Amino acid sequence: MKAEKEIKSQIIYRKMVPDDTNEVRLLHDEWFPIKYNDEFYTSMAQGTEFGGAGPVFCIVAVHEELSPTNTEEEEETGQETRKNKKIVGLISAQVQALSTFGRDLPLPSNKGCWDGALYILTIGTHKEFRKMGIGHELVVRAEQFGQTHPTCMAVFLHVITYNEVAIEFYKRNGFRVLKEIPGYYYFDSKHFGCYLCVKYLKGARDPGERTWFTALLSFSGLEFIFNFLSKTCDLTKILHNASSDSASKSSNTDLELSDLSEEKSNISILNYNDTQKLQEYEAERTDELKSIV
Ligand SMILES: CC(C)(COP(=O)(O)OP(=O)(O)OC[C@H]1O[C@@H](n2cnc3c(N)ncnc32)[C@H](O)[C@@H]1OP(=O)(O)O)[C@@H](O)C(=O)NCCC(=O)NCCS
Repeated sequence: MKAEKEIKSQIIYRKMVPDDTNEVRLLHDEWFPIKYNDEFYTSMAQGTEFGGAGPVFCIVAVHEELSPTNTEEEEETGQETRKNKKIVGLISAQVQALSTFGRDLPLPSNKGCWDGALYILTIGTHKEFRKMGIGHELVVRAEQFGQTHPTCMAVFLHVITYNEVAIEFYKRNGFRVLKEIPGYYYFDSKHFGCYLCVKYLKGARDPGERTWFTALLSFSGLEFIFNFLSKTCDLTKILHNASSDSASKSSNTDLELSDLSEEKSNISILNYNDTQKLQEYEAERTDELKSIV
């Protein structure tokens, strides 16, 4: 294998095109135990919608080197007429509406205005090209894509629990495990659990993150009182939302856009306060997501 620096200088990153499909399919077959359908590869190559959610965005890392079949003359004159090109890494993702995973994903503490999150569908690097920073570069580019959507404030993914290399990789790239979902994947006649991971963008703060304020509260012993007050506020919001929700539903069965955002905020409150509803929701959601991959 050539020096890593030389290899890295020969890698370009670009959008996937339809001609890449066969190569991309072979790489997926090698990397993942799940078989993806034709619709998935078409969406990746054409940037079209997939699984009832947003358009798929796919970046490939291509290694380009001079073909060893170049003549000596071509090499001497620097004529780079023939090149060997192969895809050595890729990431696919799509912006999904927050309502798709609202109850799974805690809203950032300084949430501002957001109604979507970037969902990483697949990521991989050719085994001979790992540990060179290609995976990191792909994550950065996907995040940049997410940043172009003004209301997308987080990146979100599922990783099978036994894939320790990938879990470590995501943590090093700033992701946090939110929770484990048992039996999320099904293949080879067996169920496998996964971790749900998240990384917030654009300065949005993780609600679990300790700030100087929460540290001060904990240090001064006031944390308990603060938590009690926050919960009371949430309870007030739930009661308010429940009454305004039933009123709006009785007066108008077609939900307006503003009603939808109200629904979303109810979802986030449920996330913290209604364990039974959350469990019911998770069961539904797990079935839905299994049908997507
Ligand atoms: C997970 C995966 C995508 C990582 O890809 P990668 O290109 O190796 O990622 P990176 O090179 O950015 O980082 C991987 C490791 O290499 C290290 N690394 C990066 N550049 C390096 C360098 N120049 N020299 C040595 N190590 C380096 C990183 O620090 C990282 O190690 P760490 O996690 O211990 O910090 C890759 O292992 C893979 O394709 N796995 C199979 C498919 C898969 O499981 N996908 C995830 C499904 S959820």
